[in-house]
Amino acid sequence: MTATGREYDGTDPGALRQRAADVLLAARERTAVLTGCVPDPELTAQHSPLMSPLVWDLAHIGNQEELWLLRAVGGHAALRPELDSVYDAFEHPRAARPSLPLLSPKEARGYVTDVRGRALDVLDRTPLDDREPLLRASFAFGMIAQHEQQHDETMLITHQLRSGPAALTAPEPPPAAPDTPALPVEVLVEGGPFTMGTSAEPWALDNERPAHERVLPSYFIDTLPVSNRAYQHFVDDGGYREPRWWHPEGWAQVRRHDLAAPLFWRREGRSDTAWLRRRFGVVEPVPPDEPVLHVGWYEAAAYAAWAGRRLPTEAEWEKAARHDPATGRSRRYPWGDADPTPEHANLGQRHLRPAPVGAYPRGASPLGVRQLIGDVWEWTASDFLPYPGFRAFPYREYSEVFFGGSYKVLRGGSFGVDPVACRGTFRNWDLPVRRQIFSGFRTARDAEPC
Ligand code: AVJ
Ligand code: FE
Repeated sequence: MTATGREYDGTDPGALRQRAADVLLAARERTAVLTGCVPDPELTAQHSPLMSPLVWDLAHIGNQEELWLLRAVGGHAALRPELDSVYDAFEHPRAARPSLPLLSPKEARGYVTDVRGRALDVLDRTPLDDREPLLRASFAFGMIAQHEQQHDETMLITHQLRSGPAALTAPEPPPAAPDTPALPVEVLVEGGPFTMGTSAEPWALDNERPAHERVLPSYFIDTLPVSNRAYQHFVDDGGYREPRWWHPEGWAQVRRHDLAAPLFWRREGRSDTAWLRRRFGVVEPVPPDEPVLHVGWYEAAAYAAWAGRRLPTEAEWEKAARHDPATGRSRRYPWGDADPTPEHANLGQRHLRPAPVGAYPRGASPLGVRQLIGDVWEWTASDFLPYPGFRAFPYREYSEVFFGGSYKVLRGGSFGVDPVACRGTFRNWDLPVRRQIFSGFRTARDAEPC
């Protein structure tokens, strides 16, 4: 079973088509909510120089779909060739996008609807030829659904940055499981090999491939993400005033912007220790039991140093999330190979916040690590680099141009990302200064040699 409540047979072309159509439809429903819940002038406004106007994301979603499903797969000519440059993310930085000749909200809606109608025709009449990598297991359709959902998370970030009253609402996430106070604070992951990455997951993106062996020494990793309560101890202890915890560039960011707490936190009145936060237009006390959210990599690394610990490497995160010591196999998800359901993880914008630490006991890994998938993206210690044997597919600009020392890897997915764009192997990345993303972290330490 999947989040859409259907079962699919991965070898049956009819089922593959149905799954592709379902994930495209689910993405479009989300896009419609995110672009329909504010009046049109708010779609063309720039709510933050860090983000595009929402109407840019909307038409960019359609343009990518046109490029890959209509032109590359369907062999169509360009519908509107002049749009390609406007919606090319590499030609125009986000801050410059409001001054482009953008489609109006009405035109953008017409464009994405037109493209979608034609894409579904392409899906209907194209044989899903296994020898053609774009078509194998309907890859291009899965890739485009993931792309739209990634921009739906981006648009949710824009909603969080937007000022004014709430435009979105959602039910509260589930509480912490009753056994939470009894959980060990960390678990030991025994040294040894595990399989990292995938060569089997049909819709895995290029940077998740290929599957390869890694050998890690033993380490401990937190059972739960770092909570606001724990993070506030660092704040109250003067963590933001003490350079010794900080990477030099992180300390420079703290000084330059006078940082004192996660993004969107503010002190309650004159209190030194009571904090409020703004979340989707509502100001509320910072909930102590929720995973800390809206911290950059520098803050995560500084907290870990203060706590006498460190961030897990990307490989350590993935081994904790996927390796089953009983079988030696790597699972698709911490709980096994079944697609996520609402019992497993807080994904898909069902809730507009992380669940408290200790929630989702059914999502636990074999060693009992919780909330690895969903709630908050988790910063890792690692730079975004290719796996051995990496091949860019289908375009260099998805991953390859970002490899190197500038970007840090985040794992696990947030409440804002859909299951189609999140799995045990999925790799996200961002600059270490970024704080507007739905990011938190957990910590790790070396195991003493015994
Ligand atoms: C994988 C989230 C870093 O938003 O920059 C969207 C996803 N790539 N369009 C991004 C993406 C092209 C990407 N991240
Ligand atoms: Fe994009």
